[in-house]
Amino acid sequence: MKYSLPLLFLLLTTSIFSQSITTIPIETRDFALVLQTDQAERLGTVYFGKKLSNAGEYAGIFLQERHVDGNAGIYHSAYTPSGSWNLMEPALSITHADGHVSTELKYVSHRSEKLGEGIALTTVLLRDPVYATEVTLFYKTYARENTFEQWTTIKNGEKQAVTLEKYASANLFFTANDYWLRHYHGVWAHEMKPETTRLPFGIHTLDSKLGARANLFQPPTFILSFDEAASENSGKVLLANLGWSGNFKIDFEKDSYNGLRVIAGINPAASAYQLDAGKEFKTPSLIYTYSENGIGEASRNMHRWARNHRLMDGNGSRMTLLNNWEATYFDFDENKIVGLFAGAKKLGVDMFLLDDGWFANKYPRNGDAAGLGDWQENRKKLPSGIGYLVREATKAGIKFGIWVEPEMVNPKSELYEQHLDWVIREPQRPEHYFRNQLVLDLSNPEVQDHVFGVLDNIFTKNPEVAYVKWDCNAVIYNAFSPYLERKKLPQTQLYVDYVKGLYSVLDRLRAKYPKVPMMLCSGGGGRVDYEALRYFTEFWLSDDTDPLERVFIQWEYSYFYPMIASCNHITDWSKVGIKYRTDVAMMGKMGYDIVVDHLTPDELAFSQQAVKNYNSISDVVWHGDCYRLSDPWERPYASVLLVDAKKERAVSFNYVITNRFEFSYSTAPIKLEGLDPAKKYRVREINTYPGAPSTIDEKAEYSGQFLMNVGINPDMSLKRMSVILEINEVK
Ligand code: DGJ
Repeated sequence: MKYSLPLLFLLLTTSIFSQSITTIPIETRDFALVLQTDQAERLGTVYFGKKLSNAGEYAGIFLQERHVDGNAGIYHSAYTPSGSWNLMEPALSITHADGHVSTELKYVSHRSEKLGEGIALTTVLLRDPVYATEVTLFYKTYARENTFEQWTTIKNGEKQAVTLEKYASANLFFTANDYWLRHYHGVWAHEMKPETTRLPFGIHTLDSKLGARANLFQPPTFILSFDEAASENSGKVLLANLGWSGNFKIDFEKDSYNGLRVIAGINPAASAYQLDAGKEFKTPSLIYTYSENGIGEASRNMHRWARNHRLMDGNGSRMTLLNNWEATYFDFDENKIVGLFAGAKKLGVDMFLLDDGWFANKYPRNGDAAGLGDWQENRKKLPSGIGYLVREATKAGIKFGIWVEPEMVNPKSELYEQHLDWVIREPQRPEHYFRNQLVLDLSNPEVQDHVFGVLDNIFTKNPEVAYVKWDCNAVIYNAFSPYLERKKLPQTQLYVDYVKGLYSVLDRLRAKYPKVPMMLCSGGGGRVDYEALRYFTEFWLSDDTDPLERVFIQWEYSYFYPMIASCNHITDWSKVGIKYRTDVAMMGKMGYDIVVDHLTPDELAFSQQAVKNYNSISDVVWHGDCYRLSDPWERPYASVLLVDAKKERAVSFNYVITNRFEFSYSTAPIKLEGLDPAKKYRVREINTYPGAPSTIDEKAEYSGQFLMNVGINPDMSLKRMSVILEINEVK
């Protein structure tokens, strides 16, 4: 970032090096965020960029700024309070016990501690000189991954309750000539549609008010680039995710001096939070990583951070599976399900996943309008129970997993009849449904027990259940909590307490079942974030499994989440051939959702070999570094490369994304990245279809230097719409 622009009002009458100025550098391996107090002991952000080798020089950064506009307030506040001097979008708004709304924050102290290899925590305590409000800013750094995790606690030291009107996680401040934001919108089956916007003056907001499955329309993820719109391999880039599975608000406020504030946290809309005397509120974390070498490097930082520090079992392995959702929908019984096990075995996958429709008796779950909430096996469909299915799966030599959607209820259910007070609904209004269902009130500890119990019951009765798909299809309409009403707590806490309740259930679940893999699903991809992924090993990106659409959806998610977390299934959603469908699903965590017996002999032979191929490359796909080589939004094909840490193996996925006629989609080679220039490699095509042998010369040897500077041609054409290449070091 450039710092030539005059920015902030500074009283230069006292030397910046005087006693009253405190400078706090927060460093990763290559970068630094620097905080500094001013003469009035307010804390500001004075630098974000490359680390200086002499940390003593950070103190002088601010002296280089000249800006004379004393009335405009301090624009670079590290956590902007409201109602006092600040005229900009605040990070914190409090109605104090006496009804006053002004808050001021002054620096009190800070400390830094080492938490582990490459991990440090800096905490900065701020206090209001008039009201007993204390704010602590937390900056956790992951040096090797150049990643920052930031959150805040707000403590009410007053004698009575105060109301938190706004309580952001982080309040960042940047200076640059220009700002470009890549952000996303979507609806069901059309998740993660990107848009890149040059940030205008004023405020640009990303937000959600959906309550549950909160990121259906917009996820809390973004890529911010400075000075110029960054590309994969160039530009200054901040890539971020807010770890919160509920309503969020991320404001990008650009001021007249070209400064940019990014204020991210829980959405304050209808969410004023009562903080009792002596109590503390902890915000969710904003996680961000920075690179000056483009989006690719930032994204690889984030992937490594996720695998090493956040994603459940991030460095472990995953199971391939056969799911029955698109194969049967609700129309099955135990014979049909057991019949599918043979298909799973024939394919060679590790597990069978039983989807929606296995439960409820009074109102059987034979469609999506009834039964949700009644978690007993449907006696007609599964007379011998889940236990029988688990035993049969074991006999067939595969593991067994199960679908649940425990946070929700159909009005046509016994749960609804017996526990109306557990349901989020406004008693004075007609009910309004999303997929014929309502959301349970997770602010209520009894409801938390119920949700925990759904899973605990399954595991207690069937300890061999090896996998859970946790779905969540509805948003919150008519936000009213009977529990908060009973407890005389403000209804505006519901959106926040819902998510806290969810995390508390997941904490209990993980305490008792620390290992079981769980897929985070949300009627497609409406929920994923880095707080949820503490508990989940993987997530469902979208119900849209058309592979052409999927290339784009997987591409966009891949900026933020590593391939090991990305569940991609081969289904019959589209008429595209099985090879293309499989090749796309392999770029992540592969699964199937088909009737294996419907495959032709060639399709079956291809798929059996594909599972074997997948098992042989999965280590690289799951744990390798990801390089996006050709952008499908810019060219008629996508190319993505995964390279293992030792640079001994790599896998390249190549997909033509159009049916328009061209003699070849590979007129030029694709330059690889991330290899060792000095090593020798051979390139081999895998996943060839019976009768269509590879056109790639397997015997040729190339230096890494050749592959990265000249490239390799995957020979894509309308006859070779997808090509997977394995690149192996010649030893
Ligand atoms: C939505 C999910 O995204 C699907 O995969 C499937 O599990 C259905 N729900 C089941 O109702």
